[in-house]
Amino acid sequence: MDYSKLAAFHDLEPELENFSDTLVTGLMKSPKSLPCKFFYDKRGSEIFDKICNLKEYYVTRTELSLLEKYSTEMLGLFGNDIHLVEFGSGSSKKIRKLLDSGKSIKAYTAIDISKEHLLDSCSTLADEYVDLSVSAICADYTRKLCLPTLPLNSYKKIGFFPGSSIGNFSQEEAVSFLKNAASALGSGSGLLVGIDLKKDTKLLEAAYNDKAGVTADFNLNLLFRAKKELGISFDLNSFQHQAVYNSNLGRIEMWLISKTNQSIEFRENKFVFTKGERIHTESSYKYSIDDIKELASSADYHISKSWIDANRLFSIHFLSLKN
Ligand SMILES: C[S@@+](CC[C@H](N)C(=O)[O-])C[C@H]1O[C@@H](n2cnc3c(N)ncnc32)[C@H](O)[C@@H]1O
Repeated sequence: MDYSKLAAFHDLEPELENFSDTLVTGLMKSPKSLPCKFFYDKRGSEIFDKICNLKEYYVTRTELSLLEKYSTEMLGLFGNDIHLVEFGSGSSKKIRKLLDSGKSIKAYTAIDISKEHLLDSCSTLADEYVDLSVSAICADYTRKLCLPTLPLNSYKKIGFFPGSSIGNFSQEEAVSFLKNAASALGSGSGLLVGIDLKKDTKLLEAAYNDKAGVTADFNLNLLFRAKKELGISFDLNSFQHQAVYNSNLGRIEMWLISKTNQSIEFRENKFVFTKGERIHTESSYKYSIDDIKELASSADYHISKSWIDANRLFSIHFLSLKN
């Protein structure tokens, strides 16, 4: 792949936060847990793209249709000469709905932890949108981000955080992310954020337990990476995917369940799993509109405008900083 069409690329080397150390710490916890950001290597990003096309996964198509329907209104709120910064850009597909509706976005910076996929997606975008200045930053957005100097850096920055990735954070982490984003984007910035709504448990659980087993593959990619990158010896088939809605906490929880009693040796450690024991791999918090107002306010934003689909499945909000 030719990356020469990118206006800039900065590798902040997020993988230096070591997968190996994180795995050891996570498997020592009770219950065992691993951070969801480790789903995403090239393979994980490709599996996630397949999830986006699943019938059961209403999230992507509903958000895309909201973006398509309301993009002109969204651009109107941003103003002119915009530098859009996407956190967790994946395949950079959703941005296209905004780019296709007007000319006010002059620069786009994609931030993602999955380096190869980031570079491929941004290069494709730069190829298709020749007037757009496209930059890529490989970074971990859960860390305090200080954006490097970028092409068209003085343009007003608008953050874009779609896909309900904010749902992967606890309330406290979400507030801290929003505050960090505000300081990274600078004064006068705004943030367009897609947030999944609370709904019927059956619909939620179906979305994370698709019949074709794609979400299971995605979840198991964490263990696939542990075998491939760290050389840990265990049978991948001895674990299975589970996704359940925890109504007390208002979140989908993804787990990997050990199908058998087993122990896994890694570095000087022996991790013992009893049959049925689980590793917590992801939370996806679901919000009510009141929850979103409270979250925005706790992070010193107010909601300038919200868009919700007719079935009240998903929502997009334009957040502005309180004066
Ligand atoms: C749920 S996908 C959303 C992708 C895309 N924005 C969308 O809405 O379809 C999450 C994206 O964020 C990236 N990601 C996950 N955790 C991250 C982190 N801590 N820092 C940076 N990127 C992260 C993943 O690689 C993935 O591309």
